[in-house]
Amino acid sequence: MKIKKEKVLIIGGSGFIGHNLAIKLCKDYDVSVVDSFDVNNIKSFKSKISNNQNSFYIKILNERIKLLKESNVKIYNQDARNYKKISKLVDKINPNYFFHLAAVAHANVSNKNPFSTFDNSVRTLENSLDASRSLKKLKRFFYLSSSMLYGQFKKTTVNENTICEPLGIYGALKFAGEKMVIGYNQVFKTPYTIIRPSALYGERCVSRRVIQIFIESALKDEPVLVNGNGKEKLDFTYIGDLINGMIKMMKSNKSKNQIFNLTYGKSRSILELINILKIYFPKLKIKTIKRDKLMPIRGTLSMKKAKNLVNFSSEYNLERGMKKMINWYRQKDNEKYFISKNQK
Ligand SMILES: NC(=O)c1ccc[n+]([C@@H]2O[C@H](COP(=O)([O-])OP(=O)(O)OC[C@H]3O[C@@H](n4cnc5c(N)ncnc54)[C@H](O)[C@@H]3O)[C@@H](O)[C@H]2O)c1
Repeated sequence: MKIKKEKVLIIGGSGFIGHNLAIKLCKDYDVSVVDSFDVNNIKSFKSKISNNQNSFYIKILNERIKLLKESNVKIYNQDARNYKKISKLVDKINPNYFFHLAAVAHANVSNKNPFSTFDNSVRTLENSLDASRSLKKLKRFFYLSSSMLYGQFKKTTVNENTICEPLGIYGALKFAGEKMVIGYNQVFKTPYTIIRPSALYGERCVSRRVIQIFIESALKDEPVLVNGNGKEKLDFTYIGDLINGMIKMMKSNKSKNQIFNLTYGKSRSILELINILKIYFPKLKIKTIKRDKLMPIRGTLSMKKAKNLVNFSSEYNLERGMKKMINWYRQKDNEKYFISKNQK
């Protein structure tokens, strides 16, 4: 007899985290992805100037879709800001697990475009939460928050009880998002798990966070631009570790109605990151620029709670994760999107 698979819905599921999660879950679950493909995705890159870098990003965004299709993930091209349409779709899919990942997932972009960030992050979250009220079989609503809601770290390590004092639009909206999720739990008993990742990196990312920017500059033989003195530390987290942690939380009842940090669990400095890069790019050049005051000084996110409640432990230190990512770039860049000016 064929066993009916449980259903997973991922709003923003063609994004960096979403497509990786969908691909990992598709063997054991019936997975549906909803995405507008409009924020940090194909439509937005197609509307930007045509250059090698954007062509590379479009290529890997198409690759995400190909991977989703090959994994038999159902893909719905739908803007989650549209309350009526999203409610109808959520009812039709009727998921057991609901992941809300849609957002403007970048602090700098959020500070430049607060309205669109509110619309795509908070409006979409409100629609997802409200649509989930009618789901009789819902086991969990997952919300992806961020380390940015802690603001400036006052100690080298923060845990989930540390007071949150977000700096800037992105962190403020993540803080609001967490409170909305908790509010829906208080009023409608929506079962939730909130996850706070930090400094994610990995293959098929187009978000241009520090590791991606550094690797792409190194491939082009351009100097890497370091904000400040390079001593600043971040809890760099490889995408595979995050996805494994998310799935552990999905499968455990102990994560119900809880907030978790979900990172590698040990911060490393930008200078350490550069030293790892130099193994692969010995001639790497470095240029120092002024740091953005709206970017909080962060550090380590304690992983004790995730370890204790769902037995999570990370596997990819920076050395291991960087090796994977650089090898991927070197294989992927066979069409020489990142060729150095001197080689042209
Ligand atoms: N990547 C990180 O380092 C990181 C760290 C902390 C938290 N997060 C959070 O995790 C979540 C996912 O991040 P990501 O890195 O996958 O981001 P991403 O930008 O790669 O993916 C977001 C996806 O949401 C979609 N989307 C946005 N607005 C939409 C709308 N109105 N309707 C439908 N789809 C819409 C986009 O098209 C995109 O595919 C976000 O909430 C982000 O803030 C990410």
